[in-house]
Amino acid sequence: MTTTRLRYTNDELLTDPAYAERIERDGVLLHGGYDADGQYLPPRSTFRLQAIAAWTGQLAGAGHPSRVIEPDAVDRAFVPNTEQAKMLLRNGATGAMTRILTLIGVVEGFGNDGIKLIPAMDLQQFLVEPIDDTCLGHLFKGLLEAHGNDEAGRGNEAGHDQMWFAVRNAALADPPVTLDMFENLPIAPPPGYQGPAKPAPEAITVGGMLDGLRDDVAPELQLLVRAMLQILVIELLAYHTFAWASEVLGDPACSADADFARATIDHIRTDEDIHVGYLQCGLAELATMTVQTTGGGTIPGADLVDAACRSALDNQTGARFDRILDYRLAQVRAELAAHEDGQRLTAEFDALASQPAEALR
Ligand SMILES: [Fe+2]
Ligand SMILES: [Fe+2]
Repeated sequence: MTTTRLRYTNDELLTDPAYAERIERDGVLLHGGYDADGQYLPPRSTFRLQAIAAWTGQLAGAGHPSRVIEPDAVDRAFVPNTEQAKMLLRNGATGAMTRILTLIGVVEGFGNDGIKLIPAMDLQQFLVEPIDDTCLGHLFKGLLEAHGNDEAGRGNEAGHDQMWFAVRNAALADPPVTLDMFENLPIAPPPGYQGPAKPAPEAITVGGMLDGLRDDVAPELQLLVRAMLQILVIELLAYHTFAWASEVLGDPACSADADFARATIDHIRTDEDIHVGYLQCGLAELATMTVQTTGGGTIPGADLVDAACRSALDNQTGARFDRILDYRLAQVRAELAAHEDGQRLTAEFDALASQPAEALR
């Protein structure tokens, strides 16, 4: 359905479609569902999808870009690679994979905590152009709330964090999950997080987002833009993780429930398209607008977007990414060291490496 309607209420942006069938796993109700034809319908998508399409169409119609980052700006392969991961699982070495899937679920939950840190604000006061008919004008009227609900669930419905745990339990046949899998994480939980996850001493924190803010623009606006870009880059990186996980856990040779794993990962990916869509659109809108400075002047919104782009890409793809990679390989190394056939598996793992960074020794 296409529409040119540009204004929505908070309730509309949170409205679920009419599902013909819901999805449950181990007594847990997952968000989203199927229509009568068996097509997956994301949660809160009755108006959200058409709204994002309409705002994006408005930008494109005016001749503006509707994206601020190209998806391939964050093109990094997942480690261990798919063949390495499958080899580990075929040999019963499920520990590293259990950790990786647990971490993915935990980080999905961080998304909601991060979004809740963003204080509601009257964005219009910072901008010269009217925003009632834009994506930006709806951030605090449902879009951010819906996004947080998608990541961490709402009411009795599970969101992405628990959906990943369900994928883990289904594909790896209920592997033991120990508390240490929540410790020493390479990414620190955002302030306000109340779960079991604990960061490693050198973990990346949200503090890095405060670096380099300009002093002539309201800090809350700059932090909002930084947070949106940071989350957008995480979402774009996640596509690579999802493709990898779907390939590995969707293979019946090494997955106890390949169909459920593949379908659920696909549903999550469909939900993430909405997040990427509104973040790209809102940020692209800002890049066309004019921002009021605290001293009574103005600057192009594009200046804020460009600065936040650089900061997010530096934070997400450089040293942080390498650290996560080292962390994963160390887990594989430790698991194989304790495996009765560890030497052979280590050699096989290294033989499957397609680049030096994927090898254990
Ligand atoms: Fe998610
Ligand atoms: Fe997301």
